[in-house]
Amino acid sequence: MKNTLHTKFSKALVTGASTGLGEGFVQMLLEEGLEVWGTSRQAENMPIRDGFHPVELDLSDKDSLENFRAKYLCDGPSFDLVINNAGYGVFFPFEKFPHEEISGQIDVLLSGPIKICREVYGGMLRRGHGTLVNVSSLAVEFPLPYMSLYNTAKSGLSAFSRSLMMESRNTGVTVIDFRPGDFRTSFNAAMKRDLALVEETPQLSAAWDALERMLNSGPSVDIAVRRLRKTLLKPRSATVRTGRFFQAIFAPFISRFLPRDTILWFLRRYYGLR
Ligand SMILES: NC(=O)c1ccc[n+]([C@@H]2O[C@H](COP(=O)([O-])OP(=O)(O)OC[C@H]3O[C@@H](n4cnc5c(N)ncnc54)[C@H](OP(=O)(O)O)[C@@H]3O)[C@@H](O)[C@H]2O)c1
Repeated sequence: MKNTLHTKFSKALVTGASTGLGEGFVQMLLEEGLEVWGTSRQAENMPIRDGFHPVELDLSDKDSLENFRAKYLCDGPSFDLVINNAGYGVFFPFEKFPHEEISGQIDVLLSGPIKICREVYGGMLRRGHGTLVNVSSLAVEFPLPYMSLYNTAKSGLSAFSRSLMMESRNTGVTVIDFRPGDFRTSFNAAMKRDLALVEETPQLSAAWDALERMLNSGPSVDIAVRRLRKTLLKPRSATVRTGRFFQAIFAPFISRFLPRDTILWFLRRYYGLR
């Protein structure tokens, strides 16, 4: 019999389900026969499909998170698979970083996912079954310039996942620290940045061009979706890197043998920084 996720999971929550990776995860889970709750800040724009429940959630808004918590986490379905995927980036030199985006990045990329895990983890432990997937980034290993708060939040999320992996060992609950490289999604289009500032600042402009080049030449989300499916079929917690060969396999391997300063030197050159 074909190994399907349906034999392991029945109810999944995916945050940031409207586009990109999240949309791909939802599609795959529905095809596998799961019932899926998917979030967006504009849930009404998501397509109506069998087995799919669109849910409103803005992780940067306390009231929205509280409503979501009360309705879907305290009192709702017992999720046995939760994918914390929602996210966006902010691209600014740190001295000009918008103050409100410091908490914005931390709320959406770090505190929000941790609060969601806090609500569902206890139930999973009691039932002796469940998987938490926290979508982090390869930026944790290879930092992106001018995205310091993004790097900070994703590094925190990976650190959180790895701690939870230790706590949950032998409980039936697994934790996946999922680290994508560049994938062709709306991520850069949704990036908060100051267009004029980027254009008038050569270093910023060079770094932005490199980010755009990498994202636009990145693979489609199918690769990440297939990688997640394969990971979910295994009974173990894991740190998973996904993306093109160079980013997800070669660079993490070779970087083990290089001093951190050498890696930063390469990255600075890559992004056109002096
Ligand atoms: N694409 C890449 O190369 C890449 C690489 C590494 C990591 N990642 C990570 O992968 C995840 C998905 O990104 P993506 O590439 O698929 O980007 P995307 O296409 O821009 O999708 C982002 C999703 O997050 C949701 N979202 C944005 N801000 C939100 C907020 N304040 N509250 C709740 N939801 C919010 C969006 O939903 P609405 O706009 O409908 O609300 C959307 O569904 C992110 O965590 C990202 O950091 C992506």
